[in-house]
Amino acid sequence: MDLYEHQARELFADHGIAVPEAEVVELAREARFAADRLGGRVVVKAQVKTGGRGKAGGVKLAIDPAAAELTARQILGMDIKGHTVRKVMLAQPVEIEAEFYVSYVLDRAAGTFLAIASAEGGMEIEEIAASRPEAVARVAVDPAEGVTEAKAAEIAKAAQLPPETVPVLQALWQVVVREDALLVEVNPLVRTEEGLILALDGKITLDDNARFRQARWGDRVSEEHGDPLEAAAAAKGLNYVKLDGEVGIIGNGAGLVMSTLDVVAGCGARPANFLDIGGGASAQVMADGLAVILSDPAVKSVFVNVFGGITACDAVAEGIVQALESVRLTKPLVVRLDGNNAARGRAILADRAHPLVEQATTMDGAARQAAVLANVG
Ligand SMILES: Nc1ncnc2c1ncn2[C@@H]1O[C@H](COP(=O)(O)OP(=O)(O)OP(=O)(O)O)[C@@H](O)[C@H]1O
Ligand SMILES: [Mg+2]
Repeated sequence: MDLYEHQARELFADHGIAVPEAEVVELAREARFAADRLGGRVVVKAQVKTGGRGKAGGVKLAIDPAAAELTARQILGMDIKGHTVRKVMLAQPVEIEAEFYVSYVLDRAAGTFLAIASAEGGMEIEEIAASRPEAVARVAVDPAEGVTEAKAAEIAKAAQLPPETVPVLQALWQVVVREDALLVEVNPLVRTEEGLILALDGKITLDDNARFRQARWGDRVSEEHGDPLEAAAAAKGLNYVKLDGEVGIIGNGAGLVMSTLDVVAGCGARPANFLDIGGGASAQVMADGLAVILSDPAVKSVFVNVFGGITACDAVAEGIVQALESVRLTKPLVVRLDGNNAARGRAILADRAHPLVEQATTMDGAARQAAVLANVG
């Protein structure tokens, strides 16, 4: 899960890293009051989970509260690389003396973390790395040892960062460890004219596998899902992603669902979603998945594509039949069952004889049928 800048800022502050005073608002007129509380002059910053906000016009200085309101009005609703700006953060401006780049990122191939740092922060690290590779230091961090004072000093020296950054490098490592992050990036980390080290912009990616031990992630998830269908699916623990098409998709296993999307697209229809109900494929999960998909007004037909494994097709068919008890089917459902106990599964569905449910024996055939039904409907 990627965090918004304002969420990263809070985590930095929690771990003792200095950040500018800031407030987040959703309405332009709130920006005026927030700017007033922050001292008048503020930097107005689009909150979107993509880079290059500054270049896109999403980071602007406002000289007083009235200007902050106007600027917030311009930035709210703006589209930055396909992300609509729904919130802006107003931050106190800082007198910058120098800008640095600092990050920790998991290096899966090496089985370590990597500290990447540069004394030439501010612009995107890819650009610095391309134009002046010698200005970017890369130091491996053994996760078992972590960033000791000596390691932080090594990183600072390699990147030619001033020694005052050493405690910040250590605190930033604590963000990685305590918050279960896969990436923590500060760009820019700045030295102010008074000699303070401040994090002015942050990106954090949390490790979703650590959700079970991170109670405080709960509130972030609701903010994460701008799409109401995704929010409803997430609340039910479903692995669902909303797409733009009209054929609803349910499958078991991410690989099978991905190829189902391709096959449906190959038939000239567009998938309405990705939904992997996983190995268990219980009646409850099937009912929850169907309910979410059927509540999407764009959906015209639904394709259930299941390859029976440990959870055999007869169990999945029972699940579909039970789901039909609790969910009112309003759109045609094409089911393709194959694999373990496929014949029994098909017989169970055939016995139920629901008027809106049809079966197909192959994935291609089922996709074609779902596409036809979607274009007719
Ligand atoms: N509070 C602040 N005070 C003074 N200058 C700031 C402040 N926040 C940002 N800036 C300046 O604006 C520049 C761009 O801001 P920031 O890094 O937050 O956005 P960005 O890098 O353009 O966005 P992204 O991270 O999406 O690429 C910074 O490098 C810094 O020079
Ligand atoms: Mg930045």
